[in-house]
Amino acid sequence: MDGTTKTEIYRDALRELDAVLAGVDDPITVMSTCAAVLHQRLAYASWTGFYRVAAPRLLRIGPYQGALGCLEIPFDRGVCGAAARQNATQIVADVHAFPGHIACDAAARSEIVVPIHNPQGELLAVLDIDSHQPAAFDERDRAGLERVAEKLRACLNGNGEVFYREPVPGA
Ligand code: SME
Repeated sequence: MDGTTKTEIYRDALRELDAVLAGVDDPITVMSTCAAVLHQRLAYASWTGFYRVAAPRLLRIGPYQGALGCLEIPFDRGVCGAAARQNATQIVADVHAFPGHIACDAAARSEIVVPIHNPQGELLAVLDIDSHQPAAFDERDRAGLERVAEKLRACLNGNGEVFYREPVPGA
């Protein structure tokens, strides 16, 4: 990186999202804006975007930045499916060592996937970021992206018809 720390990157990204998403509740607008802000700021990201819960236990691609992503991911496949199924952030240092990893981009080496919820705690989507660098993501990315997810939660209250609302046990 150019000397800017990850902590600073996420601080600035969160400030930018605060400014541009104030009062915005259209989910396509929210997700595409978030993908653009993060992809631009994270120099180590090769792909940044959302998979939406589109049907029971099925993720379908949403707004993203980067090369063509696969269109659908069942909950029982891939890193994205694991994040949705477990309702928990996944950090994968070496995607080749992750059983069931879906290689949309042969050059991808590491990945982080963060669940996205609405204010009721229902799972709406996952935020997926890939990198061509091995072990690009760490606890600072988790902390930063989980704060981004928290911010999106407040914005993703309206226009529910673009999402299937997957109930989360215990939520
Ligand atoms: N690698 C992901 C699939 C999505 S792409 O990386 C854009 C996975 O294993 O879930």
